[in-house]
Amino acid sequence: MAQLWKGRFKKELAKETNDFNSSIGFDSRMFEQDIKGSIAHATMLGATGIIDKSESDKIVDGLNDILNDIKRGKLKIDMQAEDIHTFIEGELTARLGQTGKRLHTARSRNDQVALDIRLTLRDEIEEIVGKLKELVLVLCNKAEEHKATIMPGYTHLQRAQPITFGHHLMAYCAMILRDIDRLGDVKKRMNICPLGSGALAGTTYPLDRNMVADLLGFDDITYNSLDGVSDRDFCIELASALSIVMVHLSRFSEEIIMWCSWEFKFVELDDAFSTGSSIMPQKKNPDIAELVRGKSGRVFGDLTTLLTMMKGIALAYNKDMQEDKEAIFDAVDTVKMCLNAFTPMIDTMTVLKENMRNAAAKGFINATDCADYLVGKGLPFRDAYKCTGELVALCIDKGLTLESLPLEEYQKVCSLFDSEVYTAINLEKCVNDRKVVGSPCPENVMMQIKTARDKIQ
Ligand code: ARG
Repeated sequence: MAQLWKGRFKKELAKETNDFNSSIGFDSRMFEQDIKGSIAHATMLGATGIIDKSESDKIVDGLNDILNDIKRGKLKIDMQAEDIHTFIEGELTARLGQTGKRLHTARSRNDQVALDIRLTLRDEIEEIVGKLKELVLVLCNKAEEHKATIMPGYTHLQRAQPITFGHHLMAYCAMILRDIDRLGDVKKRMNICPLGSGALAGTTYPLDRNMVADLLGFDDITYNSLDGVSDRDFCIELASALSIVMVHLSRFSEEIIMWCSWEFKFVELDDAFSTGSSIMPQKKNPDIAELVRGKSGRVFGDLTTLLTMMKGIALAYNKDMQEDKEAIFDAVDTVKMCLNAFTPMIDTMTVLKENMRNAAAKGFINATDCADYLVGKGLPFRDAYKCTGELVALCIDKGLTLESLPLEEYQKVCSLFDSEVYTAINLEKCVNDRKVVGSPCPENVMMQIKTARDKIQ
């Protein structure tokens, strides 16, 4: 396809230049946004009298036809074209002749591409938020089911204090809810219309920029043409918000991977969301979780690509910026793909409550509660802490737990102990008594679930 900017050139473009320069391989996915942007622009050109209303109507009809033809597979996008913008405009001109050539009046590909990416990513954010909400629902349902399922809570990956599995799941839910909020913030700053910035210096035509913005559902227009064409903050912000999503999914994945091991065996993944080994017949591997953890690296890489790409370019548009699309689309696609597999994997996993309960029974996770019991008897916390430490050492020596240590042994360490200590260190009681707001008792887990469900309504 001939270049639209052919006028001042005497030679054909070298094939290598076209292959290197062309972005259609990765920007053709914006065909619908490009056409919708052009329809709004053409409508405004007609309404303001910058071009004849009859010609504007023809352009709008022609663009709608092209959109339908691409969607129905009747029109194939030419992969030799320079980019999606030139392809659509070229096709329109091939269909409408002189009238088609009027579409690009008072517009540059620089403001056009800035518009198209915003339109495209705006839709992508909606889709990702939808998928995150599905994950929130799955987490809420699982957490409700396990609001009273006791498991050991960890610090330093050492058994620390008793919690509920529901509470553990709702910690991830809190992160995902923040991710949803963050994406909403990104969308706010993204939803500003740059069309009318021209190549860099606006235009002498009396455009109605607000009309275009309204037609396309933007909240406002940009107020500096140089910034309008060369701002890619919104891509960086999105990649950054998506990187944080991936940090959360990756941490969660790491726990799933551990929990699937024979050393933990806290959960078992559904066969449909696990894989086997080509040589070891016994293996059932958590590949999905591992891939999600691994793919987080891609998204962080995309963020770094965008930051590095932008940091050294003088105002306004430079071709470097064409590199924004591969990076941000990769981040978007990776997050969507991860969520598509991750959410049903969580939804279908079996929670092995017994194993969690057994793990909670070892590791002295009720030692803090034992110390708190002594505090209740009037001992200062530091002294209570020391006594309990001695009891734990004694249990380790004797191969006992705090539950099985005889009362005489307790009383040898501290005379304040009586038989009520066994109630105080009962794991169910330890969890149920953790009632302060934000703690893991079942009522608090239910409160978190309700708040989360309300938030995503
Ligand atoms: N394909 C280009 C991009 O993605 C479109 C803008 C081209 N503008 C230009 N002045 N060459 O950035």
